[in-house]
Amino acid sequence: MGRWRTEQENGIYLVEGPCRLQGEIRVQGAKNAALPILAAALLTPESVIHRCPRLSDIDAAADILRHFGCRCEWDGGTLHVTRGEMTGCEIPEHLMREMRSSIVFLGAAIARCGSARISMPGGCELGPRPIDMHLSALRRLGVRIEDDDGFLRCTVPGGLHGARIALPFPSVGATENAMIAACLAEGETELHNAAREPEIADLAAFLNAAGARIHIDAAGSVFIRGVRELHACEHTVIPDRIVAVTYLCAAAATGSSLTLRGVETDHLAACLPLFEEMGCAVQQNRRDATLSIAAPQTVSSLHMVRTMPYPGFPTDAQAPLMAVCCRAKGTSIFVENIFENRYKHAAELLRMGADIKVEGRVAVVEGVGRLHPARVECTDLRGGAAMVVAALGAQGETRIGQIRHIERGYEALDECLCALGASVKKQ
Ligand code: EPZ
Repeated sequence: MGRWRTEQENGIYLVEGPCRLQGEIRVQGAKNAALPILAAALLTPESVIHRCPRLSDIDAAADILRHFGCRCEWDGGTLHVTRGEMTGCEIPEHLMREMRSSIVFLGAAIARCGSARISMPGGCELGPRPIDMHLSALRRLGVRIEDDDGFLRCTVPGGLHGARIALPFPSVGATENAMIAACLAEGETELHNAAREPEIADLAAFLNAAGARIHIDAAGSVFIRGVRELHACEHTVIPDRIVAVTYLCAAAATGSSLTLRGVETDHLAACLPLFEEMGCAVQQNRRDATLSIAAPQTVSSLHMVRTMPYPGFPTDAQAPLMAVCCRAKGTSIFVENIFENRYKHAAELLRMGADIKVEGRVAVVEGVGRLHPARVECTDLRGGAAMVVAALGAQGETRIGQIRHIERGYEALDECLCALGASVKKQ
């Protein structure tokens, strides 16, 4: 039986604001690219994954791989995964619970073992998070799925076969699960209305490096010709576009100038104009993969921010950007179109003196000039990043609890911010 974690175990940041950030930061590898790649690593004899971020979510994925008999070893920022004897085809409940995105292991487990048994993933901080699209895509590929007392029992009576799949919504996880399973299916799979996030192209690059035959056309449809097996491969994970936006938000919230290194500026095309709208000077240099921002002392508000599937503005950047708008001159409007329940951070920002009204999918943020410190909590990963952004620009010491959420997705955020001149103490 589990036990309650103490406040200390969940971690606390003490952030002393306001600060002025200065200098350069190298952006980490993308968590949301690395996670499906680790699932796909189950299908290759050996994978060498460079720029793999060191995060608690990645540790949870490595634990699932170990459970399946793989060896996972770190060498600096590179993770080596070597496949061993498969020790079962069930993902135990405690590993499923550790990380919501463990559902992305389903397609790989089925393709590897021909069957799988997983507990139904429950809701999470972002709302109900159903998996119907994952399951219907896998069914189209020949998977039989039965409810087995709260577990899903998946079998493939006639083997995996290619299919024409049209997703009702471009779900990132359902696209990844279908792509991974279809790699080893007999025949061709077409995946229409697939997600077009850069993490999808990165998963395709990893699988193709291992001998898969995946082509993504200009409209974002994914074409997969099944192969008998995958071989060993080496891959470098794309930079994390949401981490990059978070640092841009930290600069915008503190009137700072920063340079980000190792960024893929094309992945930020929907985000950068918003920083310009706020009055920041943004300079991109594609050739050396750098991005510089110089923010004014007080930013202007944003007319309208609508979260959309890629190439639209990412839902994952909504919370940190809202934290910036809390101090802006004027009124900003947010419309959250991806998740039902992704404004929990708003209640925490109110504790710091923000003026935010939420109604359904819409949040109206009136800029208040300066936030004051308070005891706040991370409500989820990006909500946690929002609290840090807000605290950096607030007057005095903010105490942020539940930072284990932040550690799921940001590599040493406290140390990186301190290196740029902030005062963030972890307790
Ligand atoms: C991925 O989640 C990311 N996670 C999320 O990152 C991100 O917010 C999200 O994509 C959207 O960009 C990983 O990549 C590990 P979806 P995923 O399937 O795959 C509904 C972060 O902070 N839906 O595209 O779960 C769903 O409820 C996070 O790093 C169904 O209804 O997202 C949601 O409303 C959190 N049925 C919408 O679709 C399904 O079967 C988009 O979900 C699947 C999804």
